[in-house]
Amino acid sequence: MSPAPYSVCLIPGDGIGPEVVDCGRRVLAALADGRGGPSFTFTRQAAGFDAYRQGGDSLPAAMLRAAEAADAVLVGAMDVARLPVDATQPLRALRRHFKVHASVRPARTFPGVPAPFGQIDAVVVREVTEGMYSGIEYRAGDHAACGVRMITRQASTRAARITFQQAAVRRRKVTAVHKIGALKLTDSIFLEAVERVAEEFPEVQLETRNVDACALELVRSPADFDVILATNAFGDILSDVAAGLAGGLGLAPSGCVGERRAYFEPVHGTAPDIAGQGVANPLATVLSAALMLRHLGERTAAEAIDASVADVLAAGGPRTRDLGGSAGSAEITDAVINALSGAG
Ligand code: NAD
Ligand code: IPM
Ligand code: MN
Repeated sequence: MSPAPYSVCLIPGDGIGPEVVDCGRRVLAALADGRGGPSFTFTRQAAGFDAYRQGGDSLPAAMLRAAEAADAVLVGAMDVARLPVDATQPLRALRRHFKVHASVRPARTFPGVPAPFGQIDAVVVREVTEGMYSGIEYRAGDHAACGVRMITRQASTRAARITFQQAAVRRRKVTAVHKIGALKLTDSIFLEAVERVAEEFPEVQLETRNVDACALELVRSPADFDVILATNAFGDILSDVAAGLAGGLGLAPSGCVGERRAYFEPVHGTAPDIAGQGVANPLATVLSAALMLRHLGERTAAEAIDASVADVLAAGGPRTRDLGGSAGSAEITDAVINALSGAG
């Protein structure tokens, strides 16, 4: 008897989200198709700007229930910038609802993809529930507004633990990023939490860097970094920098992980400039689906996807426009599926 299929809740979102999530779904479905890999059932749920425009809610309760009931969740992207100020910021709300403490964002150069600044094999772990994106903003008169950068020991500790767990099975080096000169109270809380967690992992080396200097060093010597831990906004920025060093947002996957739940999504956004044209690079989402499989314990299937993406990129085969080619999303997805070998 074959094992029960995994139920996957797809949350395509806005812009290129539905296009790339459909590519991810096709690759997942292909794993069982004569390749002996796991099988899946899929449900689709609306969230983001279109959901808000159509139903008045950017994060519908029905979507949250479906996501909770599923074995795994794959998200596209949401057009957060177009939501009005009084609408729920769906990404923050989803991350808080699922109690996922950190977004784990690997950045790895692929053979065949130019890396003008040198090789990188790093992971940015970004706290995703508080910090500069806490969502606490208020007006201060007619011509000013304030935003609160909330940092707690609890959230910092949780993100740090995920970071050190990653580093312990990698090259055992953590770079914690701060701006202690400007943010004395908040970044003291953050760094103290990191130092405490570091004591649980004596085999892992901890260094700390100011965020500005870290951004420069990341571009100058990407190979020096293993796991980078950052508060919310710094991690948002540094994970795009790391993605750029590794070949661009079209190749950057991520997973938001907590103690009980997780969900997976590309690092990129809705790319309004190319949405609807079928030219988005689907590989960030396909690689996010591989991270999702690893989380489910389906290592062989995850490795099969990673290997087929690497093969397609190394073979000098079709490429989307962001990588200098002219292929569409569907063509790249077909190439990945054709390159898939045994996945069971
Ligand atoms: P973006 O990541 O959408 O796009 C930045 C640039 O990268 C654009 O030129 C775009 O065409 C390109 N790009 C992104 N993904 C690509 C892909 N898969 N293939 C080829 N090119 C790709 O960032 P933005 O323009 O700053 O933001 C657009 C919207 O997306 C905003 O509303 C923003 O808030 C939202 N956003 C959402 C998420 C998310 O849902 N996780 C992440 C980032 C941005
Ligand atoms: C990301 C995005 C979002 C974030 C934005 C759109 C709010 O940039 O997930 O990287 O930073 O939380
Ligand atoms: Mn971002």
